[in-house]
Amino acid sequence: MTTSILSVENLSVSIGAGKNKTDILKDVSFSLAPGKTLGIVGESGCGKSMTALAVMGLLPEGAQAAGQIVFHSRNLLELSAKDWTSIRGVRIAMIFQEPMTALNPVMTVGNQLGEMLIVHEGVSRNEARVAAIDLLTQVGIADPEARVDTYPHEMSGGMRQRVMIAMALACRPDILIADEPTTALDVSIESQILDLLLTLQQKHGMALLLISHNLAVISEMSDDVIVMYAGRVVESGPVTQVLGQPRHPYTRGLMSSIPDRNRQRERLPTIPGTVPPLRFRPVGCEFAARCPQAQDQCLIASVALRKLSDQHSIACLLP
Ligand SMILES: Nc1ncnc2c1ncn2[C@@H]1O[C@H](COP(=O)(O)OP(=O)(O)OP(=O)(O)O)[C@@H](O)[C@H]1O
Ligand SMILES: [Mg+2]
Repeated sequence: MTTSILSVENLSVSIGAGKNKTDILKDVSFSLAPGKTLGIVGESGCGKSMTALAVMGLLPEGAQAAGQIVFHSRNLLELSAKDWTSIRGVRIAMIFQEPMTALNPVMTVGNQLGEMLIVHEGVSRNEARVAAIDLLTQVGIADPEARVDTYPHEMSGGMRQRVMIAMALACRPDILIADEPTTALDVSIESQILDLLLTLQQKHGMALLLISHNLAVISEMSDDVIVMYAGRVVESGPVTQVLGQPRHPYTRGLMSSIPDRNRQRERLPTIPGTVPPLRFRPVGCEFAARCPQAQDQCLIASVALRKLSDQHSIACLLP
């Protein structure tokens, strides 16, 4: 058995109480190996970001979580706010889809990077500036000595995303979570940013949790993949198996809905029908209503993930 740096076990997240209670995530399990990339795919609303937020300890107020998120032998779901300060952004960092919301608009990028290092690494102001310039160089920003003194709004979208990556890398995290890191960018910039992520991952040996609608991106970048539907994992395993020989009808549907290469940035769903409202989950398999192969047995009870082989699992009753 390979050791994992992060192990999520039966993570369930619900929001609201009583008859308003909505199960957003149900029994999500996966593990992330050190230095490897795990892709998360699925249609909009299937719980990809909520999973990432749970790992970052940033669930919405009022959310209740059950299960375990094990990182260095600790269950992150049990950490206090104080414990989180030495983990969030430090050991586990995240880059978001829209960098402008995550960067401080009234602070130069150099000061933002520097502050991370002063707070978490205890370096001096001068050392922080040198380190900030080094980080900007690492993420491929030209003329970093000048750029270090600019504000986020003076930069292009691609450059801001590079700054976000520099921020995320500042404390050399063990895990980097990238939630749709390139959907706000032009296609030409997208591949540059993905290449940068791969290069930095190899250099620093980080594990990467990569969330994307884009199956082509996931298949190029990931070692393993989980496919989510309505807050559950419906298929998981090595990317060569899950996307190479998909077995769950939902994964098959996603694969057959990949647009051709020059349209690949569009959102996925072309499987007929929509995700059921999470507040009114059907009794059986959540995908049954859209599944071309659904049978009576699929409507009786919820369907758990089962192993097809050592590493490949599906939540489907079909043989
Ligand atoms: N703060 C919140 N309060 C209540 N429900 C929420 C909240 N945030 C998200 N949800 C619900 O949780 C579900 C999962 O949302 P999530 O953002 O994780 O989906 P996603 O897979 O990241 O989708 P997308 O691809 O559009 O980013 C959705 O049904 C969403 O409406
Ligand atoms: Mg999302």
